[in-house]
Amino acid sequence: MAKYAIIGGTGFEEWLGLKINRQETVNTPYGYVQFPITYGMLVDIPVIFLSRHGPAHITPPHQVNYRANIWALKEAGVTHVVAINAVGGITVDAHPGAILIPDQVIDYTWGRSHTFYEVESNELVHTDFTYPYDTCLRAQLLAVGRRVNIPLIANGTYGACQGPRFETAAEINRLEKDGCNVVGMTGMPEASLAREVSLAYAACCMVVNWAAGRGGKVISMEDITVVLKESAEKVRFLLSEFLQELHR
Ligand code: HPA
Repeated sequence: MAKYAIIGGTGFEEWLGLKINRQETVNTPYGYVQFPITYGMLVDIPVIFLSRHGPAHITPPHQVNYRANIWALKEAGVTHVVAINAVGGITVDAHPGAILIPDQVIDYTWGRSHTFYEVESNELVHTDFTYPYDTCLRAQLLAVGRRVNIPLIANGTYGACQGPRFETAAEINRLEKDGCNVVGMTGMPEASLAREVSLAYAACCMVVNWAAGRGGKVISMEDITVVLKESAEKVRFLLSEFLQELHR
């Protein structure tokens, strides 16, 4: 039976409205999951919630233990993951306030532990990652968006950058030339690790600012916070409808 987990990022450090059954500190062969995993109920649907940066937003994107997070979810019996990411918008359609369900990713991150296949694992598999996000999960999210009237951009390429600083205008120009629509800091290696352990994985990207050099002003956390509040509310509603629909 399908078991769902939500990974929350910036602006989604906790899941307001989730009835918490228990929280568990989890150790894995890749170290501790940095924040307790929350087992909760949404209405009457069991769901697992994991916070990337923690409730107080302290872990920077390059220091998230992505391997421990994904391993722990797999061990908990999770089959499907919806990841929530705050991103900057690069192309005109991806304006602040928009929500995008990416279908592609380009990984510009470096120095992150990005695979479960190390020499010590005594196994090497070259995982197919042609289509990095689960087609079925994406289609289900888009269908729910249509049903509940939350506009979602149905395709787009996520450029995963290192952070924690924002990009330069030149870096954003390069990303656009490469075909990126949005830019974030946490999309990778989370997505490819999920694929390595055969978790169905999709992302829900809240565009919270114009990317560097695009909006005519510097990027400020104050502006981001205003957009985030509204978008997180929409995403919470979208995901609760999504989960309830799957259990109907
Ligand atoms: N760049 C990278 N990550 C982000 C941004 C951005 O502009 N906004 C939110 N996360």
